[in-house]
Amino acid sequence: MSVTVRVPAKVNVQLAVGAARPDGFHDLANVFLAVGLYDEVTVTEAEELRVTCAGPDAAQVPLDRTNLAARAALALAGRRGVEANVHIHIAKDIPVAGGMAGGSADGAAALLACDALWGTGASHEELLDICAELGSDVPFALVGGAALGTGRGEKLRALEVGGTFHWVFAMAHQGLSTPAVFREFDRLGEGTDIPEPTASQDVLDALAKGDAHALAAVLSNDLQPAALSLRPSLADTLAAGRAAGALAGLVSGSGPTTAFLTPDARTAEEVAEALRASGTCRATRIAEAPAAGATVV
Ligand code: C5P
Repeated sequence: MSVTVRVPAKVNVQLAVGAARPDGFHDLANVFLAVGLYDEVTVTEAEELRVTCAGPDAAQVPLDRTNLAARAALALAGRRGVEANVHIHIAKDIPVAGGMAGGSADGAAALLACDALWGTGASHEELLDICAELGSDVPFALVGGAALGTGRGEKLRALEVGGTFHWVFAMAHQGLSTPAVFREFDRLGEGTDIPEPTASQDVLDALAKGDAHALAAVLSNDLQPAALSLRPSLADTLAAGRAAGALAGLVSGSGPTTAFLTPDARTAEEVAEALRASGTCRATRIAEAPAAGATVV
């Protein structure tokens, strides 16, 4: 018996970051948008817990119990008092350490898959609770679509999206560590007054209208200066995408993937082509948004 779950990547169309909290996390106003780049996670009954991964970035994925998919299986099994004896296979298409929540996506997918395989019948609320324990971005991967995340990003309110957005993603040569980017954010902000993070009504309105031009004008990411500080060459990628006809470009989450919003599918192709030719990135991908959350296939 096995179960496969398909799960999307995300881009943040707004990421407002507050000052570091006593627990080291940062309060966020995080406007998540799920994009049509997917991992597929298959869980199969096995003698013991085992993780395998295939895909272009597979060598960078940890296969031990630090993998969020393994942690998700262990968390659900622990709550039910059963053994997490499953083989988890991740067919990975989402860039690793890229700021697109690929690891979080695998956690949400493995949780849903184990719930189905074991017939645990967990409620949606319980699955969301377990996701929030696993990581700040994991609940959103379960629900998909678009949502405002507050707290450390795990408290979600679903958002309306009135149309399809066409994105191009430029993958960088090496990943960035999310904690390192937050630490750089703290360092850059030392001695300054960091305001409470709040969602931008302009961002929510542009999403609700499905208006790419309006959204492009208000995209923002407070982690971008920190990501650029750690990886200055990302400025060249951003410039290349904008010059090629993107409405706007920004660092996706903690980076180093850069995301470009385009007016239509054809422009997306042109921007992707120009980014590849610019030599400022490792690879490019086109994806539409919004995408559905984790789904059994
Ligand atoms: O929640 P998650 O484990 O994905 O977070 C990874 C790291 O990112 C945390 O250890 C922390 O350094 C940083 N983080 C943060 N504030 C958030 C979310 C993540 O500082 N709201």
